[in-house]
Amino acid sequence: MISEALANALSDQVNAEYYSAYLYQAMSTYAESTGFKGAANWLWVQAREEMAHAVHMYQYLLDRGALPTYAAIDAPPAPASFSSLMDVFQAVLVHELKVTARINDIATLAMQENDHACYQFIMWYVNEQVEEESNDKAIIDRLKFVGENMGQLLTLDNELAARVYVNPFPTDVKLM
Ligand code: FEO
Repeated sequence: MISEALANALSDQVNAEYYSAYLYQAMSTYAESTGFKGAANWLWVQAREEMAHAVHMYQYLLDRGALPTYAAIDAPPAPASFSSLMDVFQAVLVHELKVTARINDIATLAMQENDHACYQFIMWYVNEQVEEESNDKAIIDRLKFVGENMGQLLTLDNELAARVYVNPFPTDVKLM
């Protein structure tokens, strides 16, 4: 059985993962509306990954004998409120840094409660956050390099178009 405090923290994180998905969908809509279809694809794939994270955590709560709770998902910013791809990807990084802090807090709580199973579960996300932050920083670096050069921007957009969704948890039946 998982403690009530840890179950609540994971339930909150399920909600936060759905918010992340919602946020990246809004960003994808902005990219689509400005003709950057590759960036729109990249962000859409990211949104799908966030939904997979939510379902994975939800299933873990059930596996540990806890009932996930459901809270309202906040509205993301309006797609038209973004001003450029740089603006979008900087906002992605700012958001992921907040997610990292949340995940670290859950890991700390699991440690304090001597819940080794939950600690091991959340470590997947600790490592995932390193990868997500690194990917976001790499795109921001490219955008800095590219500047206003439309030819290079379109080359980068083509590269972002190559991202394909891969279910991170292929054995989870709810995600098949
Ligand atoms: Fe679910 Fe972007 O971390």
